[in-house]
Amino acid sequence: MASILLHLTSSFLLVFVASAVNFYRDVDITWGNDRAKIVGNGQALTLSLDKASGSGFQSKSEYLFAKIDMQIKLVPGNSAGTVTTYYLSSQGPTHDEIDFEFLGNLSGDPYTLHTNVFTQGKGNREQQFHLWFDPTKDFHTYSILWNPQHVM
Ligand SMILES: *[C@@H]1O[C@H](CO)[C@@H](O)[C@H](O)[C@H]1NC(C)=O
Repeated sequence: MASILLHLTSSFLLVFVASAVNFYRDVDITWGNDRAKIVGNGQALTLSLDKASGSGFQSKSEYLFAKIDMQIKLVPGNSAGTVTTYYLSSQGPTHDEIDFEFLGNLSGDPYTLHTNVFTQGKGNREQQFHLWFDPTKDFHTYSILWNPQHVM
């Protein structure tokens, strides 16, 4: 069982949109005060950060197996030093986690996407990708498929 968490750390704007999710109903804003905002009728959520801090939210429910499609538009321009993470995390001693981390870069240089999977407290499955598109221009869908056979 794992919760879905999304955090923006390190003054920019990040927007999430959802079709199946109602952010009012399905998530708790866990930090960032008014830097995290649910907009419209609950179909979108914006996270921002300023010099003081970032913002984040967490699903109210826990899940066992899921396909999650997260639509994200990342911090544009000079995003060096920003880290946007989207991850599933279990509670308790045998830690399970599935991570997406977007590491910002100077204007014109590519974001690095860093992924990892922890099962029973063991990670060491890091992979890094340089995105071949500009993740700040449009929403892109970043998916996790987690079933009894695979984590993709
Ligand atoms: C920033 O871009 C440079 C040039 O492509 C690359 O070597 C570096 O790994 C990138 N850094 C991050 C944090 O993505």
